Amino acid sequence: MKKLFASRVKNLKNSELGDLMRLIGRDEIISFAGGIPSADIFPVEELGEITAALLKDCSKEIFQYGSTEGNEGLKEYLVEYLIENGINTDISELIITSGSQQALDLISKVFINPGDRVVVEKPGYVGGIGAIKSYEADIISIEMEADGINVPELETHLKELADEKQKVKFIYLVPDYSNPSGARLSPEKRVRILELAEKYNFYIIEDTPYSELNYYDDGMEYMKKLDLNNRVILLGSFSKFFVPGLRIGWICGDPQLINLLGRAKQYTDLASSSIGQAILYEARKKDLLKTQAKKILPFYRQRLETMAEALDKYFPENTSWHTPQGGFFFWVKLPDYINSRELLNVAIDNNLAFVTGSAFFDKVEDGYQYMRLSFSDTPPDKIKRGIKNLGKLIRNY
Ligand SMILES: Cc1ncc(COP(=O)(O)O)c(C=O)c1O
Repeated sequence: MKKLFASRVKNLKNSELGDLMRLIGRDEIISFAGGIPSADIFPVEELGEITAALLKDCSKEIFQYGSTEGNEGLKEYLVEYLIENGINTDISELIITSGSQQALDLISKVFINPGDRVVVEKPGYVGGIGAIKSYEADIISIEMEADGINVPELETHLKELADEKQKVKFIYLVPDYSNPSGARLSPEKRVRILELAEKYNFYIIEDTPYSELNYYDDGMEYMKKLDLNNRVILLGSFSKFFVPGLRIGWICGDPQLINLLGRAKQYTDLASSSIGQAILYEARKKDLLKTQAKKILPFYRQRLETMAEALDKYFPENTSWHTPQGGFFFWVKLPDYINSRELLNVAIDNNLAFVTGSAFFDKVEDGYQYMRLSFSDTPPDKIKRGIKNLGKLIRNY
């Protein structure tokens, strides 16, 4: 039978990430693959108490549909959080989403016509770029540097497009500890990109799931804070600093856009999980969100430093990386005679896993020389052992 699928399914490539996620939980494997938080630090007991109390006191409401835009109490908390971070906002500028992944899908849905140009990081977050591509955008990938996207390269593209009377719809950035590069966008670049957004009239999607994960300082200012003309659409998530299983994220943007996103969300999932939002709201009342955001910092910092030391000790001279200051990832460049896809096959045979660079590039061959190593979900002793063994495989390749 001839398949009747839409033509856009050609953009729904099966990312290697999915295959690797399946390795999670296989005990014999030391995996640096999943970019997931560690369940060892989840506040399970406290969440159990909150959930039990909710079931006892208001079980009817938490099992009912909620509003499309999300739980009012949770949004009030987000307003407080954003105001504390210098972003003057109110409830009309917020919508709750089913993870920031849904936010990326909804934004793509309301902005992208087939063939529209969207700028992304190279390498960049596979889930974000995948969502953008699924609406048939024309992707422009800009090289990442240790301090974020290469701004002169961005300017050249924007100017060339403007000369041809073409334009960019939006730029998708993960300014804090990007996935996979671990890079943090410098303050100067933040300002410059905002100026370019004004000059060339495009939006900035600021995706910030790692922004609470600053292991050495208090973090940088959100681009949204510096934004005077509503150019920035800010995305946040409870997944990385709290727990991902509730599947709750949020978007902050101008009320007209939020309204539109609400309509798009109605046709996507009607509303995000009522139980998930109610649990987060109670967690906020008990100050659990703030205590957890502090508690995770030394935990992940230890893992980051263990990986940094092990890489220094066990990886050969002809490999290179920048040590991140936060987030979950090291992005390692391999010598040019190594293809990371082939290395991964050898690694899996040796009970080791990582993500090959090719998962994060529009053209897969651009990524053969890179690997993403996530330290978040691997205990320090396994990090040492795993990096030692991986170093040996690279030397013997
Ligand atoms: C940069 C980035 N954005 C968004 C997401 C999606 O997060 P969630 O949907 O759990 O909020 C991830 C998850 O890995 C990510 O790395």
